[in-house]
Amino acid sequence: MADAWYGGPANTGERVKYVEPTGEEKAGLLRYKRPPSTWDIFQKEEGIPIWSGIGISDSRTLPREHWERMGALGTYIQLIGTNNSTGMFVLEVPARSATRAHKHFYEERYIVVEGRGSTEVDRDGSSAKTTFEWQPWSMFSIPLNATFRIVNATSSPAVLIGINTAPIMTNLMKSKQFLFENPYVPDERFGGNLEDYWKPQDEFEAHPVQGRAMLTSNLFPDISNCYLPLDNNRGPGYRWVNPNMAGNTVLTGGFIAEYPSGRYSKAHHHGSGPVLICVKGKGYSYTWPKDEGTMTPWANGKGDLVQRLDYGPGGMISAAPGYATWFHQHFAISKEPFRVHAIWANINVGGGGAARPASDDGMVAGVGAEITEGGTAIPYHMEDPYIREYYQSRLKENGAEYAMPPEIYTPAGSSIKIDY
Ligand SMILES: [Fe+2]
Repeated sequence: MADAWYGGPANTGERVKYVEPTGEEKAGLLRYKRPPSTWDIFQKEEGIPIWSGIGISDSRTLPREHWERMGALGTYIQLIGTNNSTGMFVLEVPARSATRAHKHFYEERYIVVEGRGSTEVDRDGSSAKTTFEWQPWSMFSIPLNATFRIVNATSSPAVLIGINTAPIMTNLMKSKQFLFENPYVPDERFGGNLEDYWKPQDEFEAHPVQGRAMLTSNLFPDISNCYLPLDNNRGPGYRWVNPNMAGNTVLTGGFIAEYPSGRYSKAHHHGSGPVLICVKGKGYSYTWPKDEGTMTPWANGKGDLVQRLDYGPGGMISAAPGYATWFHQHFAISKEPFRVHAIWANINVGGGGAARPASDDGMVAGVGAEITEGGTAIPYHMEDPYIREYYQSRLKENGAEYAMPPEIYTPAGSSIKIDY
């Protein structure tokens, strides 16, 4: 059945006779178009808008249209660099309504941007129904293939941002039956005594690989105000936690992070995938391609390669929207701290680094360690002088105080090491 959904490069439905080359001639085409992936086709079939860009100041401004499968309103967001890896959408559950009860064989996480409501979750018709309530900036993750319904019993709309691994799973399985009518609910993710499944947890532990803070909890009642432990890795006073939710194995590398007012991160680089969603305060991010002379882009006449996005709660940016590795850097400009939630669905980005060879003597310091240490972060003392100059002007404009400790701009003060 070579239908469009089944698709894929080898199943476009076209049959063209192969002509073997002669002599030194090469077989095949020199240039060819990437055919739409099953995920591309699926998104179109859904009949809601698909927005694309490097980021948006506030995703609530995107038009939301009737979404038949969900029984609600929505828009897809496909940030540049996240194609076929991270699925994202804005979902609106209108006042006094609910989404359809549905299930899917991919991981999914929700962040509530506006409104209050509840979510009902069960194991496909079993009596083990669970339910929990949410409010603005609650975050929850639906266990793989559990049946769920998002309910808004209030008189105003609820708006949620959804993040999932649907692109990976649709492209891999190419089967609606597998994704949406699958009876298998893994016990490891949603089994046993489910009574306390949605009880928010508050005990931090060390991430077993990275040693940084991790919190295993299927529901975070308020990620804009919850306590975040001190981390210092991305800059002085930086706070950070890795949420470990619903037994997910792909949507597991993300984090909630906070920059104090008046401070900013070091720039670092890696491949595309991660998305930052602002949950509190106001800030901006730079993102630019790593290339000859772009470590100090303005000083080298390459400032036009740097893209900047200002964003606040509900806004988001693709950290590295290029095909290759891109630098990015984040700045708090509000009087209150700038808090972001980061997430990605590519298994080859971040601490997991599945594409790297396994080794017993530890991974090379990755995105957090500085360039001088074999990492990818630009030390503050080596950054382009324009970065600080522009930052200070933006703080002034917002009535916030510059708060970077001066010693951070010396080689000794800057050498904060991490192994991620
Ligand atoms: Fe990054």
